[in-house]
Amino acid sequence: MNGRISSSIMCADLAHLEETLRLHEEAGIEAIHVDIMDGNFVPNYTFGPDFCRVLRSLTRIPLDIHLMVQNPERYPDLWELRKGDRVCVHQESTPHLQKALSLFNVRGAEAAVAISPGTGLQTIGEVLDDIQAVLVMTVNPGYAGQTLIPNTLEKIRRTRELLDSRGYRQVQIEVDGNVSFENAAVMRRMGADIFVAGSSSIFAKGLDFAQAVARLRESIE
Ligand code: DX5
Ligand code: ZN
Repeated sequence: MNGRISSSIMCADLAHLEETLRLHEEAGIEAIHVDIMDGNFVPNYTFGPDFCRVLRSLTRIPLDIHLMVQNPERYPDLWELRKGDRVCVHQESTPHLQKALSLFNVRGAEAAVAISPGTGLQTIGEVLDDIQAVLVMTVNPGYAGQTLIPNTLEKIRRTRELLDSRGYRQVQIEVDGNVSFENAAVMRRMGADIFVAGSSSIFAKGLDFAQAVARLRESIE
């Protein structure tokens, strides 16, 4: 199966959200990546449940909700999850990782464990029954426009090896951070399946959206 695109909506021109989402639908974008930041787990603020509701009112593309918040298990119902959505929970954000993941594995939604660049793979092995994906962060979470941390490329490969060796071939690998056209091709070779596309690719200044999506798709075939 070809790689899939999860578009990082924080990088879009939000003044023209409706038009942007129409272009997403025309381009067959598979998911909308919504970065939720609480000013605590990461030093930044972004969207919340209200914005997710707005997105749902404008498009049927599933949401890929990346929770960069402390203790995400406290408010699992805020996200009004639907079949096909995915929620990414940072391992570093809670001592109750398994509980948090299980709370989001509802109504046909998927759960993913997210790991920051400095986090090892050990804990993933303990929650394999609770996830449909692993989100390997290729920058530190919190901001768009950062440069890839080289060690994380190799980590994608090690994550794939871990999943396969434990018999979890169906668990997907998502990558987030500086997914440029060039980096995406390398990430694909390392085993990534889902690509968070932001300011490094489909929302890069001066690029036509449809052309940029086509170019990214070539990188992740
Ligand atoms: C953080 C965000 C950004 C996003 C922005 O979680 O999700 O990393 O990918 O894309 P780039 O890195 O291309 O600006
Ligand atoms: Zn993200």
